[in-house]
Amino acid sequence: MINRVYFTVCCILSGVILLGAPNSVYATDDENCLMCHKYAGLGRYGKDENQNAKKRVFYVNEEQYKASYHGKLRCKSCHDGVEEIPHTDVEAVNCAKDCHLKDPSTGRDFSHKAIKKDLDFSAHGYKGSRTDEHMEDLPNCKDCHSNKAYQIGMDEQIASMKFIKICLECHESKEWTERFYRHMFYRASTRRSSKEVVALCSKCHADQAMMERHDLDVVVGFKDTFHGKAIVYGDEEVANCLNCHAPYGLGFSPHRVKSSRDDVSPVSPEHKLETCAQQGCHAGAKEEFASKGKVHASLQSAGRQARAGEEVSQAELAFQTWVLNLINLIYKILIVGVVGGLGMHRLLDLYASRRASKMGGHH
Ligand code: HEC
Ligand code: HEC
Ligand code: HEC
Ligand code: HEC
Ligand code: HEC
Ligand code: HEC
Repeated sequence: MINRVYFTVCCILSGVILLGAPNSVYATDDENCLMCHKYAGLGRYGKDENQNAKKRVFYVNEEQYKASYHGKLRCKSCHDGVEEIPHTDVEAVNCAKDCHLKDPSTGRDFSHKAIKKDLDFSAHGYKGSRTDEHMEDLPNCKDCHSNKAYQIGMDEQIASMKFIKICLECHESKEWTERFYRHMFYRASTRRSSKEVVALCSKCHADQAMMERHDLDVVVGFKDTFHGKAIVYGDEEVANCLNCHAPYGLGFSPHRVKSSRDDVSPVSPEHKLETCAQQGCHAGAKEEFASKGKVHASLQSAGRQARAGEEVSQAELAFQTWVLNLINLIYKILIVGVVGGLGMHRLLDLYASRRASKMGGHH
């Protein structure tokens, strides 16, 4: 999977979120890993699972690393082994192990164990998934948190430190205050754009072969639905996969995604209305709205009917595809029409004002 390949350069890019915090607060590289890993040329071609050539980069940019989420950690907090040079004892990184940071709220070693547990019991975990087969398809931490996730879009509000003045009314050290200010603001805001969320989930949920292995419908139609179209055109206000399947606002987390057949799911018949009506979405939505609205387009429901034992003929499927394509075409014509028309209008306008000013010159 391309993402796994990408992740091999994780470290280099795990440095990528530039929190911009002053480097002096971080520990120095007392393990001396960067003595070698600071060289940009460090890398070679290896093979991926399918025996295709894959570039491996062993270079770690120190500045970026130190400014990253994990920049306070020593390399060995994640990389077990690596006692020998050349390394013959490198172990795969386990995201759920204890690291040497302390959680200041308890004083105990910090770890991502709680998240791992949530994930295990979710639709994406070995305890919560419906089948025991093809477990390799289930997303692990590294599948969802690759380079891209680390490249958190610097929210303008955070970048401009708009509210830090409030903190500085009381806290006198600017450096100290900036550190906590950034921490809280990053944590309290979502970091992926809607487009990125859709791309993340679609990587698997639009993969026909993978979804067939799990007896699930492909979320093909999503980009043809209202929510999908709006996201493609950059609308951040409209619902993305997580706003419906794990809305933070209602206390869900992306690590606890469940099937809609599970009563606790926010898209289950029990909770659907509440989810549609959440703040910022369809306030005042009624039962009918929630039960009738189709979020995933028709091809998907054809698969659903088929599984429920209802006959869906090839002809019907072909017809649905045809309708979807037609809708797509109409969209395109409309867009060309509207944009083209606008352009034409501008041109005529320009021509008219030129003419008017020329004529004005004669008088
Ligand atoms: C003397 C130089 C040197 C030092 C010091 C060093 N490394 Fe490396 N490391 C290398 C080289 C060279 C490679 C690439 C080896 C290869 O081609 O497989 C490498 C590869 C790696 C890999 C990838 C291995 C794999 O096959 O997946 C990891 C992880 C790694 N180093 C971590 C560390 C850590 C952590 C430290 C500090 C504790 C460290 N290295 C110290 C030279 C060094
Ligand atoms: C937060 C955990 C974490 C920390 C801290 C960390 N790494 Fe990594 N590193 C990873 C993960 C995850 C991978 C991907 C390979 C894997 O899953 O085992 C990786 C991969 C690597 C690779 C191999 C890249 C490849 O293409 O295979 C090197 C080299 C490396 N790390 C060096 C370092 C060095 C040097 C440091 C310290 C400056 C460091 N890492 C700190 C998590 C970490
Ligand atoms: C199915 C994809 C997926 C998997 C698997 C996944 N995460 Fe996440 N994770 C996300 C998304 C999406 C966010 C929200 C980030 C955002 O707001 O952009 C997130 C957020 C986080 C956060 C920030 C705190 C929070 O809840 O917002 C941490 C820490 C985290 N994940 C760690 C992990 C660890 C550790 C694992 C493995 C045990 C893991 N994740 C597995 C998708 C995933
Ligand atoms: C009205 C004054 C005031 C403002 C404004 C204020 N703080 Fe505080 N803050 C305090 C006081 C007093 C304490 C210590 C008492 C306590 O722990 O409740 C504290 C404690 C903290 C702590 C915990 C420190 C520790 O080690 O226990 C953090 C972190 C913090 N503030 C960050 C912020 C940030 C970030 C802002 C701005 C968003 C902010 N504060 C705004 C007065 C203020
Ligand atoms: C690495 C691949 C991968 C990624 C990324 C991924 N999923 Fe999944 N997802 C799966 C697989 C495989 C299953 C089926 C597990 C099983 O066999 O029960 C699944 C199951 C689900 C289910 C439950 C289906 C059911 O009826 O049991 C939902 C809902 C879901 N995913 C939503 C999401 C959302 C939302 C995202 C993005 C945050 C996402 N997935 C990201 C692979 C992935
Ligand atoms: C507007 C809300 C909404 C959005 C946005 C949304 N979904 Fe769904 N999704 C639902 C609902 C509701 C269901 C339950 C079946 C139904 O009513 O069609 C569902 C069903 C599913 C299923 C079938 C398994 C199950 O739990 O029934 C998967 C897989 C899934 N969605 C993945 C995704 C992915 C991936 C995205 C983003 C590309 C996404 N969804 C976007 C609301 C949404």
